[in-house]
Amino acid sequence: MIYRKYRPKNFNEIYGQDLIIKILKSFLKNINFLPQGYIFTGQRGTGKTSTARIFAKALNCLALEENNYEPCNNCQNCQAINENKFLDIIELDAASNRGIDEIRNLKENIGFRPIQGKYKIFIIDEAHMLTKEAFNALLKILEEPPKHTIFILATTEPEKIPTTVLSRLQRFDFKRISLIDITKKLKKIAEKENVQITEGALYLIAEESEGALRDAETLFERIILSLNPIKIINEEHIEQFLGKVSSNKILNFLKLIINKKFEESIKEIHNIYNNGYDLIIFNRSLIKILRDLLVLKIYPLWKNQLLKEYNQELIEEILDLANKLELEDVKKLIKVFSESEILLKKDPPLITLPLEIAIAELIL
Ligand SMILES: Nc1ncnc2c1ncn2[C@@H]1O[C@H](COP(=O)(O)OP(=O)(O)O)[C@@H](O)[C@H]1O
Ligand SMILES: [Mg+2]
Ligand SMILES: [Zn+2]
Repeated sequence: MIYRKYRPKNFNEIYGQDLIIKILKSFLKNINFLPQGYIFTGQRGTGKTSTARIFAKALNCLALEENNYEPCNNCQNCQAINENKFLDIIELDAASNRGIDEIRNLKENIGFRPIQGKYKIFIIDEAHMLTKEAFNALLKILEEPPKHTIFILATTEPEKIPTTVLSRLQRFDFKRISLIDITKKLKKIAEKENVQITEGALYLIAEESEGALRDAETLFERIILSLNPIKIINEEHIEQFLGKVSSNKILNFLKLIINKKFEESIKEIHNIYNNGYDLIIFNRSLIKILRDLLVLKIYPLWKNQLLKEYNQELIEEILDLANKLELEDVKKLIKVFSESEILLKKDPPLITLPLEIAIAELIL
């Protein structure tokens, strides 16, 4: 599995969480004031577990790098940790029964000092699944944690953690990973795996994974497996694999309409349909870009938001369109394509008809 193979082993391999890493390193620097409880929150696949493991490793590393506080990955402790054989890092999964029992028994276990390392570290995954008793047990421990014992909770649903527990923890909110960062990591993996794939294709994979790096890596793996004999994977291959039209194509379609190219826009709709794409999804993607145009007209700083979703080239084109169009034009486009979406969902006698009506209404 690619996502296991490429799990970060150092802080500098974690993408998109710079501020969090900076603060964790400052704790490593001022080790005498090390907090003993942490909670990592955020969407799945953003690096919570990976960061917890690296932090735990740094705390137990025998040769922590002096200025940048990276674990050495070489000493006996780092090696044991990388091989999952280190006795003082205990990972509990609160989603499983075993996890809950273990938390109940924590009090007994925890009296022990670290065996192999400097710190005993409990990483509790899916922490929101803990039972009430488990939370109570945990709270008692957190009120007076034994020396050299660290707790790191990870959860996608922080609102389910009791505030009494939260108040004892240092909270870190992991962000969705930007398209640029996801693409960067995929590019590295592609190089290492000797996969030839265009940058545009990587962007499409990143776009699909909604800020979760693990999802991007898993999708990437599925795609290279299923497209195996293909020499160079490009955007078209990805579009076909996903059944989705790229933002690039959607923007081109919009331009056809804006430039009043009636015949070409109709042809494009048929093209898209004949190539097996879902017109409802196409229509929705269209509305999504129009909505970006609308917000841009009213609030130009929306540009920063776009950085997370589109590549630079595409953003330039979107901005260009936003300049060319009047607010009223954008509103009209949204109105017409909202209507075609409704018609598409009603299963029309001719599936392309709703979009043909939209084109006619906008151009003629
Ligand atoms: N911020 C990130 N930087 C680099 N890789 C990441 C990042 N987040 C997730 N990954 C990739 O996804 C996999 C799962 O990440 P993980 O840390 O378990 O996420 P989480 O615990 O937030 O669900 C990792 O093995 C890694 O390959
Ligand atoms: Mg995790
Ligand atoms: Zn080490």
